[in-house]
Amino acid sequence: MTRVLAGLPRAMQTDWWTRDDLRHDKGRLIFAGQDAAALASRYDRPLFLYGATRIRANLARLRTALAASGCDHRLYYAMKCNRFPPLLRMLSGTGAIGIDICSPGELDLALASGFAARDISFTGTGVANRDLDRLLAEPDLHINCDSLSQIRRIGERTPGRAIGIRINPGFGTGYGDSDRLTYAGARTTKFGIYREQWAEALALAARHRLTITTLHFHVGCGYLSQQLDAWERAVGAVGAFLADAPQVHTINIGGGLGLPHRAGDAPLDLDRWAAIIARHFGAKRSNGRGLTIAVEPGDYLVKDAGILLLDVTGVERKRDTLFVSVDGGFNLHPEPAHYDLPCEPIACVIADADADRTAWQPVTIAGNINEALDLWAEEHPMPPLAEGDRIALINAGGYGSAMASNHCMRGEFYELLI
Ligand SMILES: Cc1ncc(COP(=O)(O)O)c(C=O)c1O
Repeated sequence: MTRVLAGLPRAMQTDWWTRDDLRHDKGRLIFAGQDAAALASRYDRPLFLYGATRIRANLARLRTALAASGCDHRLYYAMKCNRFPPLLRMLSGTGAIGIDICSPGELDLALASGFAARDISFTGTGVANRDLDRLLAEPDLHINCDSLSQIRRIGERTPGRAIGIRINPGFGTGYGDSDRLTYAGARTTKFGIYREQWAEALALAARHRLTITTLHFHVGCGYLSQQLDAWERAVGAVGAFLADAPQVHTINIGGGLGLPHRAGDAPLDLDRWAAIIARHFGAKRSNGRGLTIAVEPGDYLVKDAGILLLDVTGVERKRDTLFVSVDGGFNLHPEPAHYDLPCEPIACVIADADADRTAWQPVTIAGNINEALDLWAEEHPMPPLAEGDRIALINAGGYGSAMASNHCMRGEFYELLI
């Protein structure tokens, strides 16, 4: 149900994020069947709370869409998004998904979390020789090379190996068409092998008898339906690479599938997304080659399955702004500050749930880091808050704890999977 908030800008008037497992019930925020404030009161630090049921539902939705594409497919969860060990063990326990890794440390954690080497796919950048030595010690690990140098050094160490190549199709997209979230396109990026390097990549592989079995591309993060046309341009550019690589049997389309961050964002249209895959890589287009589609989502699986719970440490008006300060800063979840990907703050308890919200006010929610950019939200409508109250930041399940730093020595937090 949409509720109208008196006196607030229209874009802020709805609880657009409400769903069955994330909603207010009699004024109390219920997440994954738990009273968020009651749960947080047991912890004396910021708490990342993850809901396993939501992760499974996100996975099931993606699998259904891929099945509808008619293409053989494999999923790999992008560990960089959230490496909380219970979450990794939960995913490996489903038996429905492998794992995408980008460093030797992630390889060790993947193995320790129950993923077999044959279900692990590596795509990394700036790969050092010491990284390669660890990776190549796993003969069943799949490695996608994102530079000519990586191909050469793998060839020198393990001639005859099967490899994948991360290509840069020269087109890309990301949430809200953001340049910062676009990994391929007009701006030259460090990711993948460009078309003009392709002949050299093939020659290097041939020189070392490396079999190219996979083409990989990941052209941006957070794309929604508005970005699907741009995404399809990237997909369409893959065909030229594929034509030159007869032994390729897998197309890894990366991750990047987005989810709503703001009121007005519609969920990604998975049917349209799957239709694009079928159009470019389905049986008709692959000339009987029988391509398998690999997908390595991070955010799509876990981001909206997590919230970050913070305590209110003060409420104070300064000039024209009502500041609500909280006990966790942007160092715990850097994406809003780095990528302008907002995590909407929600009050965990609304004193009188049935009120018409006339007492709500626009506030600026500020973290506890001594940096001017440490603001979770500005001019954001909230019910009256006081010291000791709690707020939840939604969409905190991806690239939050995984990217957290100890800046200002305020890096402590708890994590819980329920
Ligand atoms: C190569 C690769 N694959 C997968 C992902 C996961 O992206 P997302 O979490 O947006 O799905 C990333 C993220 O940067 C990536 O670089």
